[in-house]
Amino acid sequence: MGRIIAVANQKGGVGKTTTAINLAASFAAAEVPTLLVDCDPQSNSSSGLGFLKDPTRQSTYHVLTGEAPAHQVIRESSLEGLWVIPASKDLIGANVELVSDDDRAFRLRAALEAIRDRFYYIVLDCPPALDLLTLNALVAADSVLIPMQAEYFALEGVSELLDTIERIRQELNPNLGVEGVVLTMYDDRTNLAQQVTQELKNFFGDRLFDTTIPRNVRLAEAPSYGKPALAYDPRSRGAEAYIRLAKEIMGRGMAAAIAPADLNKALEPTAETIEEPAEQTTT
Ligand SMILES: Nc1ncnc2c1ncn2[C@@H]1O[C@H](COP(=O)(O)OP(=O)(O)OP(=O)(O)O)[C@@H](O)[C@H]1O
Ligand SMILES: [Mg+2]
Repeated sequence: MGRIIAVANQKGGVGKTTTAINLAASFAAAEVPTLLVDCDPQSNSSSGLGFLKDPTRQSTYHVLTGEAPAHQVIRESSLEGLWVIPASKDLIGANVELVSDDDRAFRLRAALEAIRDRFYYIVLDCPPALDLLTLNALVAADSVLIPMQAEYFALEGVSELLDTIERIRQELNPNLGVEGVVLTMYDDRTNLAQQVTQELKNFFGDRLFDTTIPRNVRLAEAPSYGKPALAYDPRSRGAEAYIRLAKEIMGRGMAAAIAPADLNKALEPTAETIEEPAEQTTT
């Protein structure tokens, strides 16, 4: 059975899509069959893998509304071992159309159930909102991978995300855990990044991945060529970092996720401490 990892953070622009694409590609490059499901109406992970806008193409929307079974919507990417269920902007409508259905939160889970034994990893790229699309992803997932930038306000909202994950775990998906937190767009030359990293380590312990993803222009360029970084420039620091992250996740094994409540307990007293150094540096 494939492990389903949702890449989620309701904060926009933190590197969810870049992480989803390059992590999925790194799994595939390690010869582990992988499926990337684009759950975001912005469709950035679809276009980033070369699936340009095509109104006739079946997408995550058709999977969620039950108009097409998942196996019919899966597309082969240009990278061997990586398959994609692309999104389309119709997905905005799914949020509204499904709202009165009793099984609205379970649509993706049910659809992926039928295909999950074909893949080792299934990576879900979520939109920047705690909406019905993200809810579907979190109900379908075994674990949540949270990309975060090393800035003082990064933790704002993470507590809310962990609360949401915990609620979903209690009410809808008892298997859900936190895979871990990965720092993205990281610049270790700044004191700020180092200070924040130390604070985050205190909160998240071994849930903070050792691998950090550097700010690297190749990661930003690759999507415009429709390729993951490891196909666009395999020796770039960005591509190498995501390969390391994939290895770290594969090395942890399948049962590595931790209950979100345990993390949030650690987070609460320290949410204040994280702001203190910020105030010190500005005064
Ligand atoms: N490590 C990095 N180095 C340089 N640029 C990056 C890196 N990670 C992401 N970016 C760039 O930052 C922007 C936001 O990244 P991305 O789209 O992955 O974030 P997101 O969380 O998926 O955004 P959204 O919330 O809108 O879905 C993009 O232009 C992307 O190319
Ligand atoms: Mg995105």
